[in-house]
Amino acid sequence: MEQKAFKRPFVHLFYIFFLSHLVFCQLDYRFYDSTCPSLTGIVRYGVWSAIANDTRMAASLVRLHFHDCFVNGCDASILLDDIDSTFVGEKTASVNQNSVRGYEVIDKIKANVEKACPSTVSCTDILTLAAREAANIAGASYWMVPLGRRDGRTANKTAANELPSPFESLDNIIAKFNAKGLDTKDVVVLSGAHTIGFAQCFTFKQRLFNFGGSRKPDPDLEASLLKGLQTVCPDQVDSDTTLVPLDSVTTNRFDNSYYRNLVNSSGLLQSDHVLSTDNRTASMVLSYSRYPYLFLKDFGASMVKMANIGVLMGQDGEIRENCKVVN
Ligand code: HEM
Ligand SMILES: *[C@@H]1O[C@H](CO)[C@@H](O)[C@H](O)[C@H]1NC(C)=O
Ligand SMILES: *[C@@H]1O[C@H](CO)[C@@H](O)[C@H](O)[C@H]1NC(C)=O
Ligand SMILES: *[C@@H]1O[C@H](CO)[C@@H](O)[C@H](O)[C@H]1NC(C)=O
Ligand SMILES: *[C@@H]1O[C@H](CO)[C@@H](O)[C@H](O)[C@H]1NC(C)=O
Repeated sequence: MEQKAFKRPFVHLFYIFFLSHLVFCQLDYRFYDSTCPSLTGIVRYGVWSAIANDTRMAASLVRLHFHDCFVNGCDASILLDDIDSTFVGEKTASVNQNSVRGYEVIDKIKANVEKACPSTVSCTDILTLAAREAANIAGASYWMVPLGRRDGRTANKTAANELPSPFESLDNIIAKFNAKGLDTKDVVVLSGAHTIGFAQCFTFKQRLFNFGGSRKPDPDLEASLLKGLQTVCPDQVDSDTTLVPLDSVTTNRFDNSYYRNLVNSSGLLQSDHVLSTDNRTASMVLSYSRYPYLFLKDFGASMVKMANIGVLMGQDGEIRENCKVVN
């Protein structure tokens, strides 16, 4: 008895250490509940008004989060501006420049969050929440995402240029996902984000006129879609930046139409189409084409996984005051 009472303070001490470890070193669904209770509302309103003005912004915010998480982890490095020759950011990487959108939306939400809760919420958590809200407003399920990420102080343009490309083999794309702790299923599920948004003609034009050097179109591309694309993206450089919907059936709707297109040879990018032909992924494509709710459920789970890539926590990184520049 006596011995037990004597030991108790040490037990408490142990718990204090253990709990503080939890608080500072693990993401938490309630991370800002007491420090910034209005956070979710501010983010949702900012995303909602951006989409009300420009429907495509839903897609752009989801992609912005992906391009953040795959480079240096989810640390808002993609939001940092170049500063003369002293700081090189990721915005000017070829995969991002004139392609990634939505920076101003996050900057504006951040300014409103700073007014409500100064120096409290990281830019990367705002981006994570914005991607969730954007997908949900477009039709995706609402998933719970733990928070407490901190912002990076560096960026890596070289790594940004190594983001998965639509011209790469599925082997390479899978390897790049594996390197981030994501698996083949995540490749299939997260590619389903291409159910919304647009691509420039140059990202798939090789399928329209000279597929694999054959001087012919990709025989796997559905005939009426091919004809339409050849008209919108004629074989001349001035059409390279023309925009085409990734999902021509329900362009702004977050649904499983991406997979229904794929099984119908109507995927736009080569990297989309291959998912329906490779035996590692074809059965998943088929099942998502049949079971829309299975896709919506799995998409949320894979987004949470992606949002955990290489996060900074505790004393690492910082809470940036302005998402464009380190403190
Ligand atoms: C699997 C490898 C992937 C490849 C090769 C790829 C490639 C591309 C390309 C080439 C574009 C068009 C860019 C342009 O023309 O400027 C695009 C757009 C888009 N991507 Fe991906 N992507 C991949 C994965 C993902 C993932 C994981 C997500 C998010 C979860 C995503 C979300 C989007 C969205 C929403 C758009 C439309 C953006 C807009 O309209 O602003 N992509 N992607
Ligand atoms: C509305 O969207 C257009 C692009 O479609 C953009 O140029 C403009 O800045 C946006 N306005 C606001 C207030 O966000
Ligand atoms: C930036 O990324 C490249 C390519 O992934 C890598 O080789 C390099 O070490 C990174 N640089 C820094 C400073 O982390
Ligand atoms: C497949 O494409 C054909 C021809 O474009 C279309 O009539 C049909 O409805 C499509 N099927 C699905 C499941 O989308
Ligand atoms: C896919 O096909 C290859 C070659 O036909 C075969 O070796 C492999 O076992 C198959 N993999 C799966 C998952 O079915």
